[in-house]
Amino acid sequence: MRIVFILGSLVLFISCGQKKIQPTGVVSKNAMVVSAREEASKIGLEILKQGGNAFDAMVATELALAVAYPFAGNLGGGGFMVYRKNDGSIGALDYREKAPIAAKRDMYLDSLGNVIPGKSIYGGLSIGVPGTIAGVFETHRAFGSLPIKEIIAPIIELAETGVVVTKKQALRLEKYREAILRETGEQTHFYNQCIEGDTLRYQALAETLKQISKEGLGGFYEGPVADKLVDFIQDKGGIITKKDLLSYNAAWRQPVVFNYKDLKLISMSPPSSGGVTLYQMFKMMEPYKLSDYGHNSQKYVQLFTEAARRAYADRNYFLGDPDFVDIPLDVLLTKSYVENRMDNFSFDKATSSSDIGHGQIKIMESQETTHYSIVDKEGNAVSVTTTLNGAYGSKIYCDELGFFLNNEMDDFSAKPGAPNMFGLTGAEANSIAPGKRMLSSMTPTIVEKDDQLYMVVGSPGGSTIITAVAQTIMNVYEFDLSMQEAVNAPRLHHQWKPDYIIFETEGFSEDLKDGLKSVGYKINTDPTPILGKVDAIKVLVNGSLEGGADKRGDDTAVGY
Ligand code: GLY
Repeated sequence: MRIVFILGSLVLFISCGQKKIQPTGVVSKNAMVVSAREEASKIGLEILKQGGNAFDAMVATELALAVAYPFAGNLGGGGFMVYRKNDGSIGALDYREKAPIAAKRDMYLDSLGNVIPGKSIYGGLSIGVPGTIAGVFETHRAFGSLPIKEIIAPIIELAETGVVVTKKQALRLEKYREAILRETGEQTHFYNQCIEGDTLRYQALAETLKQISKEGLGGFYEGPVADKLVDFIQDKGGIITKKDLLSYNAAWRQPVVFNYKDLKLISMSPPSSGGVTLYQMFKMMEPYKLSDYGHNSQKYVQLFTEAARRAYADRNYFLGDPDFVDIPLDVLLTKSYVENRMDNFSFDKATSSSDIGHGQIKIMESQETTHYSIVDKEGNAVSVTTTLNGAYGSKIYCDELGFFLNNEMDDFSAKPGAPNMFGLTGAEANSIAPGKRMLSSMTPTIVEKDDQLYMVVGSPGGSTIITAVAQTIMNVYEFDLSMQEAVNAPRLHHQWKPDYIIFETEGFSEDLKDGLKSVGYKINTDPTPILGKVDAIKVLVNGSLEGGADKRGDDTAVGY
């Protein structure tokens, strides 16, 4: 009788639990890809259906985004991949761009030592040595299972048959048209005038992809593609040489790994600040009962804000390329250090950012960069964030090769103490040096629960990436939202300086804001851009996968 009662209670408990977190996104039994464009997600999924693994699908999705989403998908940029294989082994690949060999610490300063506005954002000098092709080939070399030619073939076909312009894409193209024409030249073949429903074909990009498919890495970093690329960049005033391309390498890194309650988070290590900042925020919040406070309640917003304030202060000061600077990770990633940082936190009164550290950050950024999440039928997972930095990168489109070049050099601190285009102020650790990688906020993350794969998550959004990823994980874990609800939920952001909270336009009440103001919080009243575009996957209790594709963009989850 007692056993029947216990079993009954258990069934009731489990079914209540399931009821509370019914999936609301796309659900699939075997495998899933979630990315910024349906075309890219579908190509990634086709590779999985053909028997490819998550790493093959990474190559396919990354390259398909370069065709379908040139706003951030790229051949001319770089990114980070975090993986977890089904046997529990984990790792991280850094294919971040590098400063050219001829780069100089003061290359963006005038004779008085002041930053020359725009010099690290526009023009040939803003371009870092691209890493994406090295990233996909290194991924494939290490873990791929299908021949590379088979993986690239559908992407060449996509470039040749074309991509249909969505409403959001047409608006983006309209917004950046003038800048693209200014930076590339009026004669550019890039479709600078189009409307929703038009089909955009990329023949030059198809030819470049054919070279890469035929020659492998050498099809991009050597030979005719490299020759054309170097000539083009130098024509635009850049300093990248053939030696820069030849010497580029993707680097394997140890991801940042930590526990939060009964979760294990695996995230990107330097030169991304994502994992370290996520660690600090989560460890600062861990002692508190967030779920009791309620989703987006005043207490939760206060705690989240104070954790972000303190973690971002450290981010800006200590982090840079680990191949060039000693980062005190043994301190920054220590529970006692992080918890001490919260000693002066109280729910009664906001902390002032000037009491936390030094710095000068003045603006917010938009939604460049893109993230995709993949789980294959064996349970291998990859979490990838890739970028050109700005929207369409430097806005310099290489007509002959069919892709945009990044403006990632702006992610260095041009002058320690001066803010970049994201309003982030860097320090000495992120100063420019030849061959060095610039600091990033990209936060591709994988979460385990009870030693099993639980979530794959990441976002674009410059400095807002880290808070978008943190909120999404909290939404699922602490507040029992489904994966799709967690992605949809309105987001907020704080980055130490400027010392105010940014709320998305919809979803936060005036009562909440008044309550926050009453204990000393400042709230940004400017029209707020969206904060992040999260693409994520959650493993459900029955082993199926739920996609969370961000409705803020054209993002799409597909599975089988
Ligand atoms: N370029 C944006 C980032 O790396 O964070």
